[in-house]
Amino acid sequence: MGPIALCIVALAVISITHWVYRWMNPRCSGQLPPGSMGLPLLGESLQFFAPNTSFDIPPFIEERMERYGPIFRTSLVGRSVIVSTDPDFSYFIFQQEGQLFQSWYPDTFTEIFGRQNVGSLHGFMYRYLKNMVLNLFGPESLKKMLPEVEQAASTNLKRWSSQDSVDLKDATASLIFDLTAKKLISYDPEKSSENLRENFVAFIQGLISFPLNIPGTAYNKCLQGRSKAMTMLKNMLQERRTKPREQADDFFDYVLEELKKEDTIVTEEIALDLMFVLLFASFETTSLALTMAAKFLLDHPLVLKELTEEHEAILRRRENPNSGLTWKEYKSMKFTFQFINETVRLANIVPAIFRKALREINFKGYTIPAGWAVMVCPPAVHLNPAKYKDPLHFNPWRWEGMELHGASKNFMAFGGGMRFCVGTDFTKVQMAVFLHCLVTKYRWRAIKGGNIVRTPGLQFPNGFHVQLSERNGPK
Ligand code: HEM
Ligand SMILES: *[C@@H]1O[C@H](CO)[C@@H](O)[C@H](O)[C@H]1NC(C)=O
Ligand SMILES: *[C@@H]1O[C@H](CO)[C@@H](O)[C@H](O)[C@H]1NC(C)=O
Repeated sequence: MGPIALCIVALAVISITHWVYRWMNPRCSGQLPPGSMGLPLLGESLQFFAPNTSFDIPPFIEERMERYGPIFRTSLVGRSVIVSTDPDFSYFIFQQEGQLFQSWYPDTFTEIFGRQNVGSLHGFMYRYLKNMVLNLFGPESLKKMLPEVEQAASTNLKRWSSQDSVDLKDATASLIFDLTAKKLISYDPEKSSENLRENFVAFIQGLISFPLNIPGTAYNKCLQGRSKAMTMLKNMLQERRTKPREQADDFFDYVLEELKKEDTIVTEEIALDLMFVLLFASFETTSLALTMAAKFLLDHPLVLKELTEEHEAILRRRENPNSGLTWKEYKSMKFTFQFINETVRLANIVPAIFRKALREINFKGYTIPAGWAVMVCPPAVHLNPAKYKDPLHFNPWRWEGMELHGASKNFMAFGGGMRFCVGTDFTKVQMAVFLHCLVTKYRWRAIKGGNIVRTPGLQFPNGFHVQLSERNGPK
């Protein structure tokens, strides 16, 4: 080998070594949190996405908490990430939204959800759209929805009970989807030639997959599902435009009124992206919570007994037992709300919440460089034995008296701060009303499935098949 070739090889070795060294030891003006950046490029992504069947803190997080403490660094999907399992730091991150931190999700997510979605919108536009959504899912609107939810839950339950077996995961997803789509865009699956939900199912199946866009891959189906659903939404909006309605009461009506204004900042594209995110955010999460709830009830007969008593008492107090649920009755479901809190605490439906550091940040002696991603880890908080005694035990009674302390640093199933989930109350109405219909009229037994896998997102790989039958208990 000649001296020039030798020189080139030596230079290449030096620059690769330097690059690997930089990878392992990122630049930072202060003290980076401890941790490992894993392999070059890949980082620790494989460990992070490794499936696990446990309800406990994901092993990826737990191992690193033990080794490095509550705040540590890593690298995921090509990004440097600071992981927070520390309640104070997580609270600080939520409170500093828009100041020191900003919502951030991996690039594949942006591709999938559309560039204009609510998760990546900032500042003025964001507040503006959020108000629109809050109106739609605010208390006044939910009060009006109560009979609709009850009607849908009881009709569906009745139908399911006539079948030998029903997959609760799939069936509740369909129920919640129809309810949400009705509320948002007055969608009626019976009157539509195409099935909107089918496109969402294809979309979700490929959501957590390797982003390889060639025919046949799950990722490709995912993008196709999104594109078909978007076309349907677009056509529906167009149809509404030609046939406007007298009274604005769904999201399309709001959007059309908004688009008519001269000084509006909303475009059709933004509105349709937002619609897609809302439909997605609502039915997958709520149906996971309901499936989890039905499973917890089967596994904990004393909880089922107490829940049933609460709902039978509501029926007993009524003059006419066949009149529908009232808002006052809904508000009185004390144990039900404890049960829902406990269900979402242990379910950890959202295992990671992402932000980006807008500036260099110092916290508890550590420095987080500007531009780094920050990942808040709700399971670490929800399963902390110092805050929740015997944390893996399903115990709704632990919430007794907790409501007095208000929104706490130790509960973040619906996020926190400015980006707190706008669908929280909507979810609670749907869950409480469904549970009311379920426990007062039916019993159920497990047939198949019900096992969970976290990747780290919660999944029921085999669904949860149960047999429902009418119970002839007290009326
Ligand atoms: C059990 C059910 C649900 C869970 C566990 C859940 C969880 C969450 C979490 C953790 C966040 C915060 C994300 C972040 O900070 O980056 C969030 C935000 C959000 N959720 Fe939910 N959610 C649920 C149901 C719903 C429903 C039914 C809707 C639809 C109305 C909805 C719409 C949204 C929206 C639009 C945001 C973004 C809010 C913002 O960025 O300001 N969610 N949700
Ligand atoms: C899940 O994590 C536990 C604890 O780290 C580990 O022992 C187990 O092998 C993991 N895998 C599965 C599939 O549960
Ligand atoms: C459920 O948790 C939230 C957040 O900590 C709390 O504000 C609420 O009071 C809890 N509900 C009940 C019934 O304990």
